Amino acid sequence: MNFVNPVFVPAPNIDTIVSLAKRRGFVFPSSEVYGGLGSAWDYGPLGVELSNNIKQSWWRWLVYDRDDIEGIDSSIILNSLVWKYSGHEATFHDWLVDCRNCKDRFRADKIVDNKCPKCGASDFTESRPFNTMLQTRLGAVADDDPSALAYLRPETAQGIFINFLNVQTTMRRKLPFGVAQVGKSFRNEITPGNFILRTREFEQMEMEYFVSPSAEHSKLVDYWVEQYLEWFASLGVSRENLYLYEVPQKDLAHYSKRTVDIMYRYFPEREKPWEELMGIAWRTDFDLSTHSKNKLDAEGKRINPDSTEDLSYFDEPTKQRFYPHVIEPAAGVNRTVLAVLMDAYSEKTNDKGETRVILKLTPQLAPIKAAILPLAKNKPEIVGMAKAIKRSLQPVLRAVYDDTGGIGKLYARQDEIGTPFCVTVDHQSLEDEAVTVRDRDTWEQERIKVSDLAEHLQKRLKPYPIAPPEAQ
Ligand code: GAP
Repeated sequence: MNFVNPVFVPAPNIDTIVSLAKRRGFVFPSSEVYGGLGSAWDYGPLGVELSNNIKQSWWRWLVYDRDDIEGIDSSIILNSLVWKYSGHEATFHDWLVDCRNCKDRFRADKIVDNKCPKCGASDFTESRPFNTMLQTRLGAVADDDPSALAYLRPETAQGIFINFLNVQTTMRRKLPFGVAQVGKSFRNEITPGNFILRTREFEQMEMEYFVSPSAEHSKLVDYWVEQYLEWFASLGVSRENLYLYEVPQKDLAHYSKRTVDIMYRYFPEREKPWEELMGIAWRTDFDLSTHSKNKLDAEGKRINPDSTEDLSYFDEPTKQRFYPHVIEPAAGVNRTVLAVLMDAYSEKTNDKGETRVILKLTPQLAPIKAAILPLAKNKPEIVGMAKAIKRSLQPVLRAVYDDTGGIGKLYARQDEIGTPFCVTVDHQSLEDEAVTVRDRDTWEQERIKVSDLAEHLQKRLKPYPIAPPEAQ
């Protein structure tokens, strides 16, 4: 194909990504052999690599590159008292309405112009709260035994709060410091949908940054917003596809004094293209005090008679004891995967109207870093050399060997899954011990000695640097 003056087109809508994701092994509809399960998705061989690379980038950036953040991995199922005192049992609701005509149920805030999204009627029941925590039962107990009730966590954050003292004392931490956790969360969403954007089972990357009650909390929210904008840029998400939304007071969660959402342009084809990618909240001292045995209310009564610990902090310099405040950047893994895929998607069309899809993933996120391709698969020496190169690269970077098509087809397939480099072994390689390295984005080719190949690729694969954190 001749692409002298290519025209690049970004992803026009989520459906384009759904189709690429299924065709190329990123994400499959779940339980397909039984007709599927609404809004559940399985990550395929390339999707699991992409999502792992995002989580690793996040973990490296916060837990390794900074000196003020620890990581943990808490249980998904916690004592149900955690959810009583966190406020989730009483307030983690969506407002639900029934359409009296078609009997379907909807989130009240998603009804536009008082019309049923399914049948168009305008006859709804009064809205009522619907708790979105998913319930389960623990142990071999009677069906109606209330002591068996447990929840699948709706946020990873609470596992961090209840471990605050464990982390602080074992790691000898002084304020300010943060605790990061990545893992699954569950919400019984009334209207899940839009591919992996809203599902009932999803993954979060949350960090609770503990600071003094006298810190400049609002400035810290701005600081973390800026940090995350840089991190998203390092993942290849363009700034023009992100938008900052200051959540109005009336819409703040029960624990928040200020929240800024980072929105992504998930719906470029719509008049309202934005949906939340993540939120950065000032959660005050709500969480640590609510789980503490010594915290008293205005009338001098313990707010938590069930807790056996006090999650307060003794500040040596001021000789004061207090409940730290928290700044919480809470991001979704799945929504980041979708944003990254949408931003990386490009179609390259030549003057004849022929189109190729190129996934311009940053090298650090690409599921496969190098594909080793033999020019002639019926030539044992070439095949042997290509397989040996693949094996020699594997300890330093993820490489695959592929001989399942002609070279043009193999290049196109790797472009479509975002592989930054194709390494071709040809007849001349047998003579000069060199291979051709082809760049995904420019299609330029370079001849590189096999002995220099690993170092050459590693240099070009280096993650895009993020500016070091400013001192707090
Ligand atoms: N601890 C605070 C918290 O959980 P949230 O705004 O409810 O805040 C944080 O969730 C992030 O988790 C969201 O910005 C989104 O990326 C992701 N998320 C929440 N619900 C989701 C769902 N049903 N499906 C996919 N991702 C979801």
